[in-house]
Amino acid sequence: MNILLLGSGGREHTLAWKISQSNKVKKLFVAPGNAGTSKIANNIDVKVDDFGQIKELVLAENIEMVVVGPEDPLVKGIHDFFLQDAELAQIPVIGPQKLGATLEGSKEFAKTFMKRHNIPTAAYESFTLDSMEEGFLFLESMNPPYVLKADGLAAGKGVLILNDINEAKEELKAMLADAKFGVASQTVVIEEFLNGIELSCFVLTDGEHYKILPMAKDYKRIGEGDTGLNTGGMGAISPVPFVDGAFMQKIEERIVKPTIVGLKKDSIPYVGFIFIGLIKVDGEPKVIEYNVRMGDPETEVVMPRIKNDFVEVLQAVAEKKLGELRLDIDERSAVTVMTVSGGYPEAYEKGKEIFGLDEIYDSLIFHAGTKEENGKVMTNGGRVIAVTSYGNDFREALAVSYKNIEKICFDDIYYRKDIGFDL
Ligand code: AMP
Ligand code: GLY
Repeated sequence: MNILLLGSGGREHTLAWKISQSNKVKKLFVAPGNAGTSKIANNIDVKVDDFGQIKELVLAENIEMVVVGPEDPLVKGIHDFFLQDAELAQIPVIGPQKLGATLEGSKEFAKTFMKRHNIPTAAYESFTLDSMEEGFLFLESMNPPYVLKADGLAAGKGVLILNDINEAKEELKAMLADAKFGVASQTVVIEEFLNGIELSCFVLTDGEHYKILPMAKDYKRIGEGDTGLNTGGMGAISPVPFVDGAFMQKIEERIVKPTIVGLKKDSIPYVGFIFIGLIKVDGEPKVIEYNVRMGDPETEVVMPRIKNDFVEVLQAVAEKKLGELRLDIDERSAVTVMTVSGGYPEAYEKGKEIFGLDEIYDSLIFHAGTKEENGKVMTNGGRVIAVTSYGNDFREALAVSYKNIEKICFDDIYYRKDIGFDL
């Protein structure tokens, strides 16, 4: 079959790598893709939210399945667009419709969903400009640190964690009264601070059945020792050493099952990935957030551990036959370390030539922000190249990634040397 994958990051290169290994694929298209996907698929210069051009592409190339990488087109309703178009309605889209995507698109929607279905999460209240004074009182009733979340999508910047009550009030005012994050902060969720260790749980569902994919842990902060600004993710490992059978069972019984059942009860159709951001607090799992896509760079360690033909898995999702499928998981650990452009996640430069990729044999190289120009691979984003390796445990795998990452070179390259430091 011909498949179209939307997106251009490390997640999409990894998905393209996995999908292209299936002998069920005739042609794989990636829009817009990067220098990594161009080597294993056909890159098409179409934006992920240009639904009109995506339709033209799908019809022109006889696309028989669309896999959506990032949340943006889902939140904008790409799946609904397909369902409402007579020429596209029969083509399966892997990714939820707009209503399901609201689990990521609105923090308040996600919190009320969890409350309704008794899914453990931080206590919270939400506020708008009209209730700002009550928001101040609510902050005064809490203990620091204070967690403020813009309701809508804010490019990963909408969560503020503050120690000082006056600063928290000022930020609440900036979000509600001064549109600090535009319309995204017209509603602000204030929640209880949870102290624990974070991990990522990935679920694939056809709306009826579900499969839990390998667990992962990512490292979000730019600096070593988890310091400095939040990024999209600087590295990841899978499996997660502190997730044992008993903890996994709690995650499945208290969080995954009530989520799938809750979606059905609420008549929210959902086909695709659910990324549940978890935190382990005193041995108990709680939900930090839902995302309606795979994580990045978690995908770079989750996909390499799935041994199944992934197109068969995606077909089972599309045909609602996921219950009949058995996932075959590689016992080994996989880790990834992300190289980034100096300055990221703030201002950074693009267009630097990347050297050394061809000298790496025992790691998987996944491109994030890269572009091919006259046969050269150039940096084209903050996160640039992820180096994924296998090992009998995460330390062994990390040693391989760190050996190989030294061969990669571009102007002002940076990466964290302490992935896994807390385990
Ligand atoms: P989110 O965008 O909701 O994932 O939040 C970004 C990051 O903020 C998370 O990965 C956590 O590290 C942190 N965070 C969010 N909510 C809380 C909370 N209630 N308690 C502690 N940390 C949080
Ligand atoms: N690595 C976290 C995310 O994809 O949101």
